[in-house]
Amino acid sequence: MVPFVDLKAQYKSIEGEVKEAINEVLETMKFVQGDYEKKFSQEFSEVHGSKFAVGCSNGTSAITVALRSLGVGPGYEVITVANSFFATAEAIVEVGATPVFVDCVDETYSIDVEQLESKVGDKTKAIIPVHLYGNPSDMILIKKIADKYDLKIIEDCAQAHLASIDGKAVGTFGEFGTFSFYPGKNLGAYGDAGSVITQDAELLKIATMHINHGRTKKYEHDFCAGNFRMDGIQAAILSVKAKYISKWTDGRRAAAAKYDKVIGEAGFKVIKPREGSKCVYHLYPVEVENRDEVMEHLKSVQIGCGIHYPIPLHMQPALKYLGYKAGDFPISERSASKMVSLPIFPEITDEQIDEVCREFLKVARA
Ligand SMILES: Cc1ncc(COP(=O)(O)O)c(C=O)c1O
Repeated sequence: MVPFVDLKAQYKSIEGEVKEAINEVLETMKFVQGDYEKKFSQEFSEVHGSKFAVGCSNGTSAITVALRSLGVGPGYEVITVANSFFATAEAIVEVGATPVFVDCVDETYSIDVEQLESKVGDKTKAIIPVHLYGNPSDMILIKKIADKYDLKIIEDCAQAHLASIDGKAVGTFGEFGTFSFYPGKNLGAYGDAGSVITQDAELLKIATMHINHGRTKKYEHDFCAGNFRMDGIQAAILSVKAKYISKWTDGRRAAAAKYDKVIGEAGFKVIKPREGSKCVYHLYPVEVENRDEVMEHLKSVQIGCGIHYPIPLHMQPALKYLGYKAGDFPISERSASKMVSLPIFPEITDEQIDEVCREFLKVARA
């Protein structure tokens, strides 16, 4: 038996510290933002190599806040990749802009930069590359395109805490990096939470206002923005966990290296990070010809698995009005139909990886 993720194992390793942190919030009654959010944001910026960070309610609101802070709204287009979790496109629609999709590249599963440039038009305002599975998109080339056409960049880092390109952390290349701390993420809260990072003090100020009712000071509001604040309890828990994220990331990388050795070398398509990029393996997807059979077998021997994601964004019912059709983005469509994600989490043991590989190879066809 191997679970898909084991949140309990991680919790048990820090249980005392987490309970102490929650108790402290209960004693101080600072339930929303306050000192806990400030402390965690400072720690997260440091650990992630960013100048600034501000906590928010989740990874979806982080993208919405970033878009609004850059003035993206009705009449504008935002280019993003067709293979992502729904929230990436949803946030673009939420601010009233139009998502324009681009296919991903084989093997890295990140945005096809050549196609991206071909989609830039008069209405394009921003690009949202997604570092899916924790594998960095080609930020050097994306930045060149953004500079050439005067576009803004929001990096969707929901799955990519601590991923880097030539030693520079993802999220620090663009105007904003947005993060999710959903419990199963590489840095996970015990509820919903997110963060927006930036290297620009003015953008930090605007994003902070967008998170909290457009307010300048108590009961004075410059614009209508809504409430996307981070809870004090989540911030306090994240402060405990931030200390371990480097170690946990090493655990994920070690597990992926073991899978690569057996499954990659057996001829299956697995993630191939670009030269100089460090993937943090939020997920470990593998392409197989007989997915249903593989998933059924893994389930029968109590090995957790999943699909990330079965429907590419351009094929989502909610986005039908955009007019895309099957065949528009062949690589995203192929990976959506063939990928199965195998168990990966920092605490996974060598024995568990061996068991997954053994059972996977019994049935999977490359
Ligand atoms: C790529 C990506 N973007 C955005 C999000 C949204 O984050 P949240 O669930 O915290 O709103 C997720 C979360 O699953 C994600 O994987």
